[in-house]
Order: sequence, then C-alpha cells, then structure tokens
Amino acid sequence: MAKRASAIDLQPELTPAELNAMKSLVQQHPKTGKHLEIGTAAGGTLRELMLCYPKSQPPFVVIDPFTYFPDQLEIVKNNLRGANIDPQYVDFRKGYSWPQLEVAIGANEIFDFIFIDGHHDASHVMEDLRWTRLLNANGLVCLHDYRPKFPGVKWATERFLKRNSNYSKIIHVDSLVVLKKAEMTGTEVSDNDLFVSKLMNRLLKYKRSILKRFNRV
Ligand SMILES: C[S@@+](CC[C@H](N)C(=O)[O-])C[C@H]1O[C@@H](n2cnc3c(N)ncnc32)[C@H](O)[C@@H]1O
Repeated sequence: MAKRASAIDLQPELTPAELNAMKSLVQQHPKTGKHLEIGTAAGGTLRELMLCYPKSQPPFVVIDPFTYFPDQLEIVKNNLRGANIDPQYVDFRKGYSWPQLEVAIGANEIFDFIFIDGHHDASHVMEDLRWTRLLNANGLVCLHDYRPKFPGVKWATERFLKRNSNYSKIIHVDSLVVLKKAEMTGTEVSDNDLFVSKLMNRLLKYKRSILKRFNRV
C-alpha cells in the first residue's frame, strides 16, 4: 500500500485556510457534547481540533477502517502523543461509518459536532450524512472536499440542504463547508436519498470515464 503524504508529515489534509476556519469556529463557539470525525487519515485535523480545547475537552469519537496506510491507528495515536494529547481520551471506532451508525443509534448517542471526511463518492457521503440525525440542535456538520474533483461530495451536500431546511450553510472556505442545524426534526436522510445517491455514483462515474476519454480530467 502506498504511503500517503499525511502518514509521513502527520499534517491535516485540510488547507491552511480550511483549518483556520474550522479552528476559529470551534474556538468561538466551543461545544461540550461529543465531537465526531468520520475519516481521520493521520489524525492531523483531529489533533488541531483537540488543541482548540486546552482546558476541558469534549469527548472525541473517530470512525475509520484504519486501512488508509500501514499502521494507521498507531500513527494517529503517536501524532496525538506528539502534541501532548493522551490518545486514550479519543474513542476510536474501527470500521465504516454506516455499520457504526447503527451502533450509535442503539446507544442513543448525540453529537454537537460532526466532521465528514471519509470516502468521497455520492453514496458514501449520503451515508455519512445519516449521522446528522444524532446531531444536537445548534450542532455543526463540516464536510471536506466540496469541490469539482469530488462531485459526489457537492451533489450529496446540495441535495441534503435542499431537503432539510433546518440546516444552513454558514461557512464555505476552499473546499470546506460547514452547515448549522437549527432544530432537531428526526431523520434527515431517507432511504430514497440513499437509493438516488447510488444511481448518482454510477452517473458521475460514467461522466468521468467519458471526460477521461477526451482528456478533460
Ligand atoms: C481524506 S482522509 C481524511 C483526512 C482527515 N480528515 C484530515 O483532515 O486530515 C480519508 C479517511 O477516511 C477513511 N475512510 C474511508 N472510507 C470511510 C468510511 N466509509 N467510513 C469512515 N472512514 C472512512 C480513510 O481510511 C481515511 O483515513
């Protein structure tokens, strides 16, 4: 398996502007409830988020299959240790986000902050957006790679916003968008959304193969 740059430099996969925007948001509106990151790579952004809470830290949860590069989980833990953060304060859940969601629903978990940065095709992002049913009122959901290279992220985010008027886009910096939830209403992502997102995957893949043939990507 090829080593990702983040596995070596241990840095966030966010641009400096994206990271600053996320950190300022968290520093200006600190939350006490659970913080979730779906897809952590080397834990660079996780580390920076945790450092935003120097005094009392909210609970942090990370979901990732930890197969992005060899020894990923150990590298993430060492990254945190390097910033004097004890990794035992992070609840690492090894696996994909959708089976983990079933477990979280069963445990009646609630989150104040969700950062979605796992697999970037339309159906995976839509699956990850299902976690918003566990997001508190006034909670924040961040999505990364909302940019033309990942049309699935953009499509899923826009469909979600269209169908959930209790969310508003409060930040868009480079490829980071942050949505704020007004009130809790129930289930944001329907089975139909998931079905349509799978069709969209095929369509976007087909479009990409055509563009590739004409050297447009
Ligand atoms: C783009 S990287 C994350 C970068 C990281 N958030 C950062 O800011 O540095 C993608 C990560 O998502 C994980 N991943 C891929 N599919 C996933 C899924 N379905 N559920 C959870 N994590 C996933 C990969 O293992 C990888 O660690």
